[in-house]
Amino acid sequence: MIHILFAALALGVCGDGSRSGATAALHDSCRDASMSLVQSQASRRGTVAAFLQLGPKPWEERYYYVGAHHKSGTELLRAVMRHAFDTLHAPSSCHYWKPGGKPTPASFITSTDHDAYCFDRLDIPIQWDHSANLQRFAAAKGAAALRELPIRGAHAVRKPKDMLISAYCYHHRGQEYGNGVAPWPEIMSMSPVQGLMALWPAMSGIIQDMLDFYTNTSSDEVFHMRFEEVTSSSQAFDEVVQRLFRFLFAPAVPESDLSRMWQAAKVEDLNSNPTYANAIASSDHANKDDCMQAAQESLLQLDPRVVQRLKDTQEQLGYSIENWPDALRS
Ligand SMILES: *[C@@H]1O[C@H](CO)[C@@H](O)[C@H](O)[C@H]1NC(C)=O
Repeated sequence: MIHILFAALALGVCGDGSRSGATAALHDSCRDASMSLVQSQASRRGTVAAFLQLGPKPWEERYYYVGAHHKSGTELLRAVMRHAFDTLHAPSSCHYWKPGGKPTPASFITSTDHDAYCFDRLDIPIQWDHSANLQRFAAAKGAAALRELPIRGAHAVRKPKDMLISAYCYHHRGQEYGNGVAPWPEIMSMSPVQGLMALWPAMSGIIQDMLDFYTNTSSDEVFHMRFEEVTSSSQAFDEVVQRLFRFLFAPAVPESDLSRMWQAAKVEDLNSNPTYANAIASSDHANKDDCMQAAQESLLQLDPRVVQRLKDTQEQLGYSIENWPDALRS
């Protein structure tokens, strides 16, 4: 039964070709598609791959740059994008970890080849940047331009004060021991005020990168995924992820396949069934509410210049500052 459905799909799709003046003879591309349908009929994902064989793949028509910043929703954006690229059977991706630096396990956006360093392999059109900045985006864009391709970016954005608080609670409990943004082991015994101030030098640079990226890229090139929005409810998650995928992949990928990609990404919805094995849960990135609350409450005790900067950058990123410091989203 399923087999028949797939065959019908293949014929329907190949039928498109005949509209553009092809003869009754089976196109090569159609024959290939049928072959591949036979090979992968057991898998729904195979349908997507077979469909895409008929036309250019999205990464043959566009470059993709996926960028995030420490504590801006990195795990979430990367996991959502990996579901998308894996569903499409993307061939490979590169990353912007320092040369010689080894990405942490699971830090990649395609399950197929993903170990190349982007600056060495600017020919790879699917790029993951865990610490996004304009210079790297410009490099990706330049590589795309050389091939006369446009670029599409996905970018994780979050309120700066919540990134700082989240960084404190995350490192305070010993996560990513040795990460240069925090003093080790001191951060683990610092009070919120001490810890937030100790993290400020590094986090302010990260926040500036995020703001520069937000300010100096255009909305037809980059989709900003706001952490507060995508985690606010299951409906919001669905809505944001659908808009994101459509922005990145339509019209090369048809709605039916976009919907399949979105279904695959649903496991990352933080508001959905908490027993889902999602990337955030398995990477231990969720912080304890009591730490987040205590840090939030000590925010106004920080150096007034830091408080002002957190407030200003929040506004410059397009957030309201009406009830500053507004309740955090952990
Ligand atoms: C990008 O935007 C910022 C504002 O955040 C601005 O001050 C800066 O000059 C811009 N940087 C570049 C490289 O264009």
